[in-house]
Amino acid sequence: MVFKALLQAVNMIPTINYNTQLELVELIDQTRLPLEKSILRCTHEDEIVQAIKTMQIRGAPAIGVAAAYGVFLGLQRFNGSEKTFSAFWPGLVDMLASTRPTAVNLFWALDRMRQTVETILHTQGKFIERLAMARQGALKEAQAIQNEDIAMCRAIGRYGAEFLKDGQTWITHCNAGALATAGYGTALGVFRAAQEQGKKFRVFVDETRPLLQGSRLTAWELREENIDATLICDNVAGSLMANGKIQAVVVGADRITAHGYVANKIGTYPLAVLASFHNIPFYVAAPASTFDLKLTLGRRIAIEERDPGEVRSFGARPTAPFDMPVFNPAFDVTPPELVSAIFTNVGVLKPPFSASIREKMARIPTQAAFTARKA
Ligand code: MRU
Repeated sequence: MVFKALLQAVNMIPTINYNTQLELVELIDQTRLPLEKSILRCTHEDEIVQAIKTMQIRGAPAIGVAAAYGVFLGLQRFNGSEKTFSAFWPGLVDMLASTRPTAVNLFWALDRMRQTVETILHTQGKFIERLAMARQGALKEAQAIQNEDIAMCRAIGRYGAEFLKDGQTWITHCNAGALATAGYGTALGVFRAAQEQGKKFRVFVDETRPLLQGSRLTAWELREENIDATLICDNVAGSLMANGKIQAVVVGADRITAHGYVANKIGTYPLAVLASFHNIPFYVAAPASTFDLKLTLGRRIAIEERDPGEVRSFGARPTAPFDMPVFNPAFDVTPPELVSAIFTNVGVLKPPFSASIREKMARIPTQAAFTARKA
């Protein structure tokens, strides 16, 4: 109910939702956009695992929310004894954690779910009753993660929109929009907030090879919002900047270390280098759940490598020799010296980031407990 009200209030795309009447998780199948807005219905945690792996749902905060619901679906389905639960439970969390390695939001959300469920299960009483309470607690926690994400995105948007001046043109890369979050978006949240404030501006959208999140998802979202947007190939940004057409870049993030290294969609780092060369501000927009304070250096971030087939073809059409060797990293890391500011839900972080991140993010819980258990 709260979620529906939040969505109506901001006229947003419902990326993921728990349908309490049908008792299932509904999500927009992002692999079918922009041609078709089809809803995927999940009743089993394996379906959530598949949806994350195949990127039917993607984007750092959104996969965290999906995994949280995956925990709830697993608990709903479990009907064994306390003894069998002790094997089932870590397997459930680990399976969801193994879906994608880079976005820390996934581990952050799973850690919250694990702590909620284990706290309830460690109370006194019959196992069957504790399990029933754990199911309720898990649903509440997943819904809280979802609702908090929307609130964080709105705050990010408000902070970021202060930097976007009337008449400016910005570039964004990949999709850090409503579809990548529980709603509203981080980088695209900045544009939504600026639009709500009545500002006039233009956005260039990198198509984002190989999976085209820019042209399939960001272009679609910005059109839905009537935001003035133009699609470009990834290799166009440099000439636009050289011709003085761009005033700033804003991107999302999958993980930001304590020293301000930013992992985001492959192609983000070259965009930051270009922006620096042309003296254009490079902004990152991210919620607290994207900060990994356990890591300092960017090279420690696990970078996902995806299927070579994504590069050997364009859509369904082969565009390379079928057995051509391919290197297909899904993310890159931008060093802090190329980042002008980070828009977060608790304010705007400025360099030096090791100090500003420590000051603003120190009290925000991280995924420490989860990773410690895995180590
Ligand atoms: O591979 P994807 O599509 O999940 O990558 C998404 C991104 O890189 C986004 O920019 C990032 O997750 C931020 S989303 C608010």
